[in-house]
Formats: sequence, C-alpha cells, structure tokens
Amino acid sequence: MSHERASWGSKLGLILASAGSAVGLGNLWRFPYVAGQNGGGSFLLLYLICTFTIGITLVFAEAALGVKTKSDPAGAFGKIHPRLKFIGVLGVLTSAVIVPYYSVVGGWIVAYIVKSFSVSEIQNFESHFTEFSADPVEPVAYFAVYLLTTAAVVYMGIEKGIEKYCKIIMPGLFVLLLALMVRVLTLDNAWQGVKFFFTPDFSKITAATMLNAMGQVFFSVSVGMGIYITYASYVKNDDISVGQTMGRVIFLDTLVSMLTGLTIFPAVFAFGMQMNAGPALTFITLPKIFAAIPFGTFFGLVFFVILFGAALTSSISLMEVVTTFLCDQVKMTRKRAVAAYTALCLVTGTLVSLSFGRLSGFKIGGKILFDQFDFLASNILMPAGGFLTAVAIGWVLGADKLTVSQNRYVQKSFEFCLKWICPAGVLAIMLNALGMI
Ligand code: PHE
Repeated sequence: MSHERASWGSKLGLILASAGSAVGLGNLWRFPYVAGQNGGGSFLLLYLICTFTIGITLVFAEAALGVKTKSDPAGAFGKIHPRLKFIGVLGVLTSAVIVPYYSVVGGWIVAYIVKSFSVSEIQNFESHFTEFSADPVEPVAYFAVYLLTTAAVVYMGIEKGIEKYCKIIMPGLFVLLLALMVRVLTLDNAWQGVKFFFTPDFSKITAATMLNAMGQVFFSVSVGMGIYITYASYVKNDDISVGQTMGRVIFLDTLVSMLTGLTIFPAVFAFGMQMNAGPALTFITLPKIFAAIPFGTFFGLVFFVILFGAALTSSISLMEVVTTFLCDQVKMTRKRAVAAYTALCLVTGTLVSLSFGRLSGFKIGGKILFDQFDFLASNILMPAGGFLTAVAIGWVLGADKLTVSQNRYVQKSFEFCLKWICPAGVLAIMLNALGMI
C-alpha cells in the first residue's frame, strides 16, 4: 500500500490530507462541549498554550520523521531503535479506541441529513436529540451507515480522491461557518457567549481542566498516534519545509475551532440553553440556529453534509493507520484488513452507542462507555504517544537530526520544545491529574 500513496503532489497533498485529518468532529463537536464543561475562556487559554507548544512541536516532529524515514509509524520508530517499534503500535490501539465512538457521532450527522428531508422529522430531531441518541436501534443503524461509508473509502483506496475532495470540503466549511457565525452574533444576548468564550476565569483552572485541554489538543490536531508520520512519508521531494507546511495545518485547525466557539457559545446564550450539555451540545444548538435563519433547513442540510465530509476525512485517516498496520505487519490483504477491523468496530461501536440508552447504567469510574473511550484515547493514549514520540525523537534520535525550518529561531525553538517542554509538560499534566504532583 505504501507505493500506492507514494505520490502526493508534494506540499499541497500533504497539507490537504493533514488538514483533512485534523479538521473534523474534534473542532465542530468536541471542542465546544469540552470548553463549555471546563470554564470557557480559561479552557481556551490553556488550549491555545498547549496547541502552540506541545501540539505544534509534536506535529512537526512526526512529519519530519515521516519525511526522513519514509516509513509507517512502527517502521519509522523502528529505524530510530528496534525496541521503539511499539510506539507505532500504540497508535494502532489508539485508533481502535477512537473509531467506534467517532463513528457513533458520525452516525448522528447522517441521521440529521436523512431527517432534514422531512420537516416533521427534523423538528422532532431538534427537540428530541437526547431521546434519539438513547434509542436502542436508530442511532445504531446510522452509526453502521457511517462506519461502512468510511470502510468503503478505505477499502477502495483513498489516494485518488482525497486531494480533490478536500479542496471542496475545506473552503465550503469555512464559508458556511463564517456565515453562521455572523448570523448568530447578531442575535440578542449573543455577546454574552463571546464573553464566556474569551474571558478566562482563573479559578476554573484545575488539574482536570489542564488534562482536558491537553487531551483536546491531541485529539484535534490528530497528533500522538503517527498519522503525520504516515502521511509525510508519501512526500516525494525532501526539501519541503515541514515547519511552513504543517504550520498551516495547525493554523487551520485552530481557526476552525475558534470559529466554532464563536458560533456555538453565542447561540447557547441567545437561545437560553445549557452550557454543559456534553456531547449533545453541537447537535442541539446548530438546529436552533438554522431554525432562526431564512432557508435554514436548506443551510442546515448543506452544513451537515459538509460536516459529514470533514468527519469522514478524519475517520479515513484513523482507519488507514490500522489498515496499513494489518497489511504491513500482519501481512493481511487490504480487503481483509478493512473487513476484519470494520467488524470489530461494528461490535464496539454498537456498545458505545447503547451507552446513551440501554447501557447507560454501565459505568466505569463514573463514566459511561462513550466518555470512557473518549477519555482513554484523548487524555491517556494520545498524550502517552506524544510523550514517547518526544523522548524517542528528541533524545534517542536527537532533535537536531530533524530539520523543520531554515529559520534558526524556529529550528532552535522546535528542538528545545521537543526535548524539554513536550515530555515534561505531558508528564506534569498527567501526574497532576492523577493527583501525584
Ligand atoms: N482530529 C480529528 C478531529 O478533529 C480526529 C482525529 C483524532 C483524527 C485522531 C485522527 C486521529 O476530528
């Protein structure tokens, strides 16, 4: 499979595929609800600090390693030292935890799209989202549709379509998000949402908020599981500037989250809704906004179709990690690998979906299965992957062996952050959250 995708255009291909992986439900669904639960402005501050220290450094490191080694994650770490191969394998495990619940949310989007064709159904969906997600059959069926769509794309191979497809999706997403934001900001009380989003309340900064902000950064930029190693390994010419290329991806990802925050929070205040609605937040606020604009049903449909596309490019990247691994390391054929992995996700995802209803009583550490999967992937596995990546590249290989920029200041800051800030920061935040420091 590596030679199939060996030929991205080069810089643009890498930017688009990476942005496709980064921009997704993490920005439009996860960011606002986690920020809402963690104090708004103070969360935003921690999130931005984390993005432009730990997040950006690790993305640069992964991409630079991919360009240098031209290998999948396990192979790339194996080239640093054979014992380090397991860091790449950890990414596979992380993906297997994310895909099931990511696809449950993807299924909610499919449901919205299908239901928006019938006025009575969509009105029902708006006001009854909680009941919908708790139903034992409907959301499970939509989840299966979403998962099988992802699987179909990965099954057929994505290399021909993804560049073109991202070129349409990304600008479309921006334009619609901007339009929505402008509409929401002109509603009564909307500014209170802006205030909530931008005013840090330092008393809300706790060990748990810091862990949540860091988890959000890892999830949102897709870092800590080798996705950028994989994607960057398909760049032909080595003289690309990793810093410039991947810097754009981080910028785009952060921008989409900011625009989403500036849309969802004002809407929460304007419509007098609850800030801490959890995973349902985007799904109950957006329909309200659409109901308040002319041709709202139409725009709602277009928006959710775009959201579906943005989510799909992310779940494709997630499924690719496992598929590549099964093909290269377990020597399965691509078709078998996708089939086996999809079957596994169908089972786990069904359980995750049911955790909003039938299985809601089944809790581990006070969290339903959905939250448990999300917590495990974003707050534990990805940061752990990031920590190991920083140690492996920063110390075992040596940060100065990778060039991310010709600018001396950028290069030196990268090396410093990779060796010191990333490992120490991740470790401190995790130990702090565990109550150990
Ligand atoms: N970054 C993606 C999003 O924001 C999710 C993702 C996480 C994708 C990890 C790949 C790996 O939706």
